[in-house]
Amino acid sequence: MATIYVTDRAGGDHVLEAASGRTIMEPLREIDNGIEALCGGMCSCSTCHIYIDDEWCAKLKDLSDDELDLLEDTECFKGEGASRLACQVTMNDDLDGMKLTIAPEE
Ligand code: FES
Repeated sequence: MATIYVTDRAGGDHVLEAASGRTIMEPLREIDNGIEALCGGMCSCSTCHIYIDDEWCAKLKDLSDDELDLLEDTECFKGEGASRLACQVTMNDDLDGMKLTIAPEE
């Protein structure tokens, strides 16, 4: 387990536990004002869009072409570093303490 610090769509702060080896989609959709994750993590809906805080961006694996294609179609895309899909971000020990914000609903 690792800890992530999350700002939800209403500006509320959350401290969540995320399991190593699993994506961060699950804990983010359990909070109020979190993500919808309508496709269930199949990388086909972009309703799990999040913004990773600058200092953590480089620690994440590169985006796949599919993830980037979906994100570029969103109105609130912030660039390849900051914008990610929560269902494509797998937790590991290096990400313990990561900060992120849920992107606006589209
Ligand atoms: S849950 Fe649909 S793209 Fe991530």
